[in-house]
Amino acid sequence: MQFFPKRIFIQFGTIFALLVFNSLTKVDGQTQQTSSHHDYCIIGAGPSGLQMGYFLEKSGRDYIIFERTNTSGNFFTKYPRHRTLISINKRNTGRTNKEFNMRHDWNSLLSDKEHLKLRYYSKEMFPHADVLVKYLSDFQRMNNLNVQFNAEMSNIQTVRNDSVKEKHTFTMSDQYNNKYACRWLIVATGLWKPNIPKFDGIELTQGYESISINADDFEGKSVLILGRGNSAFETANAIYGATNVVHMIARSRVRLAWATHYVGDLRAVNNGVLDTYQLKSLDGIAEAFLSDETKLMSKNGKYQLVTDDEFFDNFAFRESYDVIIRCLGFTFDDELFYNPYSPPLFGMAQSWKRMAICENAG
Ligand SMILES: *[C@@H]1O[C@H](CO)[C@@H](O)[C@H](O)[C@H]1NC(C)=O
Ligand SMILES: *[C@@H]1O[C@H](CO)[C@@H](O)[C@H](O)[C@H]1NC(C)=O
Repeated sequence: MQFFPKRIFIQFGTIFALLVFNSLTKVDGQTQQTSSHHDYCIIGAGPSGLQMGYFLEKSGRDYIIFERTNTSGNFFTKYPRHRTLISINKRNTGRTNKEFNMRHDWNSLLSDKEHLKLRYYSKEMFPHADVLVKYLSDFQRMNNLNVQFNAEMSNIQTVRNDSVKEKHTFTMSDQYNNKYACRWLIVATGLWKPNIPKFDGIELTQGYESISINADDFEGKSVLILGRGNSAFETANAIYGATNVVHMIARSRVRLAWATHYVGDLRAVNNGVLDTYQLKSLDGIAEAFLSDETKLMSKNGKYQLVTDDEFFDNFAFRESYDVIIRCLGFTFDDELFYNPYSPPLFGMAQSWKRMAICENAG
């Protein structure tokens, strides 16, 4: 899904959706008092928001980037939880062609500053995520990008505006109820809300977003991981030396990046558990699927998974687990919108959202 060629950041299936809304089908009535108006509003100072800001800055446009936290690239202050990026930092290519070299550098953003490349921040092929946070923060400062930090937008809607060709203006407010308006709105928030499916017993699970990253906490435990993407394997890799067993189950089969050529699928850097599974050690990946009929139950302080999938009737999986971890990806935060059921988007953006959620659910 290479809709944003080359400079895409895909971490364990996260897609940094860069959605440009400049058309719409519906205008939500009332006028709002506005304290600040810009031609372009960008929501989110992650890689895509900063990159967009860079080009607007360069071309002298009136823009502002709203960031809900105090840091550029805030997602990466927490994720990946075990802190190793899966985007390669290929520093040497033997070539001098900048385009070519940039194609092999999966982390740096485009800019005219030669030294503003991730290769000067780390020698690791898969750097620590803090390195990316530092880089993104430098990128924002060195390019003087206009970011308003600690500004959490919500209530996005459109008001009629007959003085512009599109006949509408976007309005929104921050957590202090300050109002903002803009002619063009770019939502660059990516997918950052944990995807939590609704099946019975889901509350018995611990989420990837809050599990312990200390392997000692899994010493001698039997662990079931829901999910078979990069975050699931990253978690398994971090604990499989301490656990009795790690079992994994998801809605779809494992998709190996080296087979599918999609960078968001399972990357070799995380796939140690494939070995222990295929070499008949105790870890296992169920050749079965999570379905709507799946149930998690608790019995004597242990947890069990119940599914109607006949393939799942496998001796190893009938045991109960000490911990069930949910690693099922992230979804788009539609609470940004005044009416999440009818956000002021046009068709393309809506279908991206759906695609993105499907993409991350397994
Ligand atoms: C940002 O906020 C976090 C807590 O949310 C805090 O630990 C950190 O020191 C803050 N950083 C800056 C630069 O203010
Ligand atoms: C209408 O759009 C123009 C141009 O973007 C802007 O200056 C003006 O404030 C807008 N009016 C309202 C009511 O939002």
